[in-house]
Amino acid sequence: MNPRQQEKLAGLISQPIKWRCRLDRYTSLSIGGPADAVVRVDNRRELQAVLTFLAEDKIPWQVIGRGTNLLVRDEGFAGVILLLDGEFKKFARQSTDDADKGIVCAGGGCSLAQISFSCMEWGLAGLEFACGIPGTLGGAVIMNAGAWGSEMSSIVENVRLMTADGEKRFVRGELDFSYRCWNGFAAFRGKAVVSEVELELKNGDPDTIRQYCSVLQDRRKKTQLCKYPNAGSFFKNPSNDSAGRLIDVSGLKGLTIGGAMISEHHGNFLVNKGGASAGDVLNLMKIIQAKVKNDSGVELEPEVHFI
Ligand code: EPU
Repeated sequence: MNPRQQEKLAGLISQPIKWRCRLDRYTSLSIGGPADAVVRVDNRRELQAVLTFLAEDKIPWQVIGRGTNLLVRDEGFAGVILLLDGEFKKFARQSTDDADKGIVCAGGGCSLAQISFSCMEWGLAGLEFACGIPGTLGGAVIMNAGAWGSEMSSIVENVRLMTADGEKRFVRGELDFSYRCWNGFAAFRGKAVVSEVELELKNGDPDTIRQYCSVLQDRRKKTQLCKYPNAGSFFKNPSNDSAGRLIDVSGLKGLTIGGAMISEHHGNFLVNKGGASAGDVLNLMKIIQAKVKNDSGVELEPEVHFI
């Protein structure tokens, strides 16, 4: 970005911009080279103005949420990283005439685990599966995040996307989700940001919901125990199998390249033992893909997104 562009961008938002900022501190893997700028947007007006400016000046951008399902390359990103802040981090329960239902309206930058916790307090059932998922709501919708047999697609009622041209609303019937993917978002990639989501949940008993959350948390601790920075499941599960199991039977757990290691607890967790580069993780990824293909005939596809 040239100085004129930097000045223009800074004039569009209220929070200070971080220029040439390393992204490792913004990702759960603690890996990532520098971006030209990291920009926090507080509200819809700012977001639309920023998207318009970036589109006009053809500057690449990415929203990274809480950076939990992400591998940022060592070269970094020649463009702008957007973080949703302010009103995008707010959520509230809405009133509804239906006694069985509860609606929660939330900004795309909200923590999914935090919404799940509040739903538990409000006695709203349906989001228990997300109590240990560390990402943002917007990211969870785009990748149809899931766990324990449930996924976002079962509770998302509608989604608002902000583009340079304004906000568009998509209702449940238009969304088209599949395993770990909101298919409908493909047409908007690089053009739109999830600004708001309405979740439809069921009224339930807070104690039952709390107990279920705690069972799931315990299960997660047992199966995914991980003391090192990681990005959750690195590969998607192939149909009717588990990437973790396939990596395990290939004898790869514990394999280390540089600072990156395949977790000794769970084959589908690639961890940063300290000082790992994105290159280390990518090399490990290629070794896993080749060995699993050779041993089991399965092509593992990454679940993590790359910048
Ligand atoms: N397994 C092994 N060895 C391993 C790891 C797993 O044999 O090293 C076996 C387990 O014993 C089990 C099976 O593989 O029989 C499945 O493992 P697990 O229950 O740990 O679930 P997963 O399929 O690896 C998926 C999601 C997780 C989600 C859990 C719980 C994907 C790619 N992963 O994991 O999601 O938390 O189920 O529902 O769908 C994520 O997406 O980041 C994530 C963590």
